[in-house]
Amino acid sequence: MVTNFLQRYQLQNHQLILPKKQFVTYAVYALIALALLHYLLFYPAPAPHKPVVVPRVQEDVETVASAQLNAREKLPPPPPRPPAGQQGDELSVNPQVEASAPPPLPLPCDYSDGEWVPDARPPLYNGTSCGTIKDGQNCMAHGRPDTGYLYWRWRPRRCDLRAFSPEALLRWLRNKHLAFVGDSLARNQAESLMCLLASHSPPELVYRDGEENKFRRWVFREHNATVSVFWSPFLVKVTEKAEHAGVRHNNVFLDAFDERWMSQLGALDAVVLSVGHWFLIPGVYHDGGRVVGCHDCADLNRTETGFFGAFRDAVHRTLAEVVRRHGRGAGRSKVVALTTFSPAHFEGDWDKAGACPKKRPYRNGEKELGYTETEMRKSVVEAVQAAAADAGSGLRFAALDVTTLANLRPDGHPGPYMHNDPFAGGVNDRVQNDCVHWCMPGPVDTFNEILLQTILR
Ligand SMILES: *[C@@H]1O[C@H](CO)[C@@H](O)[C@H](O)[C@H]1NC(C)=O
Ligand SMILES: *[C@@H]1O[C@H](CO)[C@@H](O)[C@H](O)[C@H]1NC(C)=O
Ligand SMILES: *[C@@H]1O[C@H](CO)[C@@H](O)[C@H](O)[C@H]1NC(C)=O
Repeated sequence: MVTNFLQRYQLQNHQLILPKKQFVTYAVYALIALALLHYLLFYPAPAPHKPVVVPRVQEDVETVASAQLNAREKLPPPPPRPPAGQQGDELSVNPQVEASAPPPLPLPCDYSDGEWVPDARPPLYNGTSCGTIKDGQNCMAHGRPDTGYLYWRWRPRRCDLRAFSPEALLRWLRNKHLAFVGDSLARNQAESLMCLLASHSPPELVYRDGEENKFRRWVFREHNATVSVFWSPFLVKVTEKAEHAGVRHNNVFLDAFDERWMSQLGALDAVVLSVGHWFLIPGVYHDGGRVVGCHDCADLNRTETGFFGAFRDAVHRTLAEVVRRHGRGAGRSKVVALTTFSPAHFEGDWDKAGACPKKRPYRNGEKELGYTETEMRKSVVEAVQAAAADAGSGLRFAALDVTTLANLRPDGHPGPYMHNDPFAGGVNDRVQNDCVHWCMPGPVDTFNEILLQTILR
């Protein structure tokens, strides 16, 4: 089965000619998304923890918390792992976890199929109670007036999805390390998880990459639980484009790994990989020392191959490498979860009012998945299946199959509320809209409800 898969995969991979309809679909998608993506995905991560100035009761609390974070951030980063000498004081490892094999597990629920239903319960956090919301996704603090988008819950068709329990995840995460690896949607999901957990226990930021907030690590001291974020928008090695220097293509090396996160694998107990959108922008794909494809590359006098093959390849090879490095049954046991493609919802120009104006979810069947979303999702699901079939004991792969549930949430994006009070000067002709990332709180919290159940299974 794995061999079959590999053969098919190899074939497809060198056959990147797109049927006309598919080409048009993704070309249109790309056109709409491009301008925005350039802006959204590439503008530097937020000036870290600049306190959001909101005239609310919480302002003082928020400012103090931010000031503390800022103060901590000025310290030099500590080493990635706590020094070995510290062990021993706090030996609270749960003995029965290690002692015997867990009982047989029920069949997993298919969380990908379901519908959004109204839910009166408020989110576990809000725009001022959590310090890890990226400015551009803090819709509440930025004055988004409607709140209906907060009161929905995802109901899978054949099973229940439990509300998020910070206690349950922190209990599992005791003496463990969970990492998010990927692009700005990985960061979005990581920050959502941090907010959900922080509603129960305060995190401490213990490491931050100097300038751009792309690598961060927090510890929940009470639980000795670690969460980190690694920037790696292709999972494999890349030389990122540099528009100021006239380089508009990412050079993606499909046969080289991104050691910034890959080298940490041994220390991680759970990894959430989330990539996709960066493949939609101009890219040149390298393999074995030569160029094997490119996307949006007419200016390079190269034949367009599209990006689907490169995406499949990057995900597939990355998972195979995780299997290889983990070894068969060796090392600590691990969960590797892949968040599937999360659709954008542009209905008009990204820089005009009303780019993603919906105020409620789509009903089932009201919005079909697009071609790009379908293909990107499928690549991940298939790569996970192949890796799972190949993995030795102690290594578990899972797809966080959020594509459909996310597709039904056109109301969950910041839109103009990526900026504070966007209509302060009246409704202008031009206003930037983010219809890619997710408001926090918002539908991205559901990704983490599924992550929790996936980890606990
Ligand atoms: C946000 O949450 C905090 C803490 O739970 C609460 O005190 C505050 O009133 C909330 N703010 C809003 C605007 O709901
Ligand atoms: C704390 O957690 C880390 C994993 O993140 C683990 O390596 C370390 O041993 C733990 N410390 C104690 C005292 O158990
Ligand atoms: C583009 O590539 C083709 C085929 O390799 C070559 O014949 C042609 O001269 C190139 N054009 C330019 C402008 O470099």
